[in-house]
Amino acid sequence: MIMTVDQDVRGVWTSDHGTMANETAQVRWTRIVSDMVDDVGESLQASTVSNEQQQEGKAIQSALETMRQEIQNDAELTPINDTDADVQWFTSQLERRPKLSWQAAPWLFAECYLYRRVQSIFATSRYWRGYDVFKRQKNSTFVKSRTAVEELAARYLSTFQKGTGDSATEDQRFLLFSEMTQVALWGNATDLSLLSKLSLEELQSMQGRQSILNAQSKIVDNDLDEVWAYLNSPLYNKGLREVDIILDNSGFELFTDLIFAAYLLDSGLATRVRLHAKIFPWFVSDAMISDIGGLLDLLENVVDFPERAAIDPVLAHLRQHIKANRLVMVDSWFWTTASSYYEMPERVPDLYSDLEKSALVIFKGDLHYRKLTKDGLWPFTTPFKQAIGPMGRASGLKVLALRTNKADVCVGLTSNDQVQELDKACPNQGWVRNGKYAVVSFSDGQ
Ligand code: F6P
Ligand code: MG
Repeated sequence: MIMTVDQDVRGVWTSDHGTMANETAQVRWTRIVSDMVDDVGESLQASTVSNEQQQEGKAIQSALETMRQEIQNDAELTPINDTDADVQWFTSQLERRPKLSWQAAPWLFAECYLYRRVQSIFATSRYWRGYDVFKRQKNSTFVKSRTAVEELAARYLSTFQKGTGDSATEDQRFLLFSEMTQVALWGNATDLSLLSKLSLEELQSMQGRQSILNAQSKIVDNDLDEVWAYLNSPLYNKGLREVDIILDNSGFELFTDLIFAAYLLDSGLATRVRLHAKIFPWFVSDAMISDIGGLLDLLENVVDFPERAAIDPVLAHLRQHIKANRLVMVDSWFWTTASSYYEMPERVPDLYSDLEKSALVIFKGDLHYRKLTKDGLWPFTTPFKQAIGPMGRASGLKVLALRTNKADVCVGLTSNDQVQELDKACPNQGWVRNGKYAVVSFSDGQ
């Protein structure tokens, strides 16, 4: 694999043998698209579906099936049939680089193209626009996470009732911060595009509090101390302390993010938290604003969550933060493009300038990390600040990435010895891609 250190780092391609990109393009995408066809099929069986909806649903299934075959046969990537401005951008990229095919294209571009094309298939229909082809999966996996949800709600309730602030020692405050951050971090381990067929036992063993704390040694770049120092510095406390969380997945991860946001507010570390969601279904499990409301409604449901002792008060508490405008939800079309965040200042100057004003911008998950780092094949010891280019050094932005490693890019390791040890413990660079390792990477923008 070719590795360079300059900012024109080469992004990983689906044709790069032995990469996650290659495996994803060859094996995982067709399965994900087949699951979409099945989901539409299930919806078609409802007795309330009209004849017109039936016809259109079948046409959608066939458009998805065509795409599945194109992936399998390594067909050329063709312009998406839609007039939306963000789709035109995809088309312009294809014009600039003709002959990209599914199995020979930059991974980030091709994967985002896939989900954007799916969106257009539904959005240009009459009866299925607004349909969330991943909703069934998102909801059912969240309900399966019941044990961990109850455990985390109970844990949060006990800290919240005790008070998180004044009487606690510095050590206790740091420990709580470290725990809450790690819960939000490992919440990212169970995204559905990678792990849709997890058994209940597997899911639960990844989500329990103890397994989360045990996983500390698996954080290969861990800047928790630096983040804590920043949060306690005069620089941080001089400002408004408004924090942005760029969300990743719905379901259990979103629940951990809401708890993390509540913790930031209740501990006084933040005065407001803005949650940034996607505008349409994305990468199977990603959260839209409607998923946030949907998750709170699911928690309300006593059939799925019969043990109410902790859930009720935590839910009421979250709703109170929302009502008081301390917990705010926003979305942007930019999160569903294929642009790396190197392009953010140019493509979304307003959003970028909002983030510049933020006290801390927390990017959740693997895909945001890939976009921050251009999905680049950086040497693993490249400093995070360097790999995120314009969002790093001298940007003034305070960027924190909480990401379990599920791709080919990983930076911020301290030495080649560390890389070698990881390679020994986890051959074939499994630590970069199997979701069992993670990073807590911080750039102070200086
Ligand atoms: O390869 C795993 C994968 O599906 C990647 O394609 C993508 O980067 C990622 O998972 C999505 O994960 P996350 O939900 O953490 O962004
Ligand atoms: Mg995701």
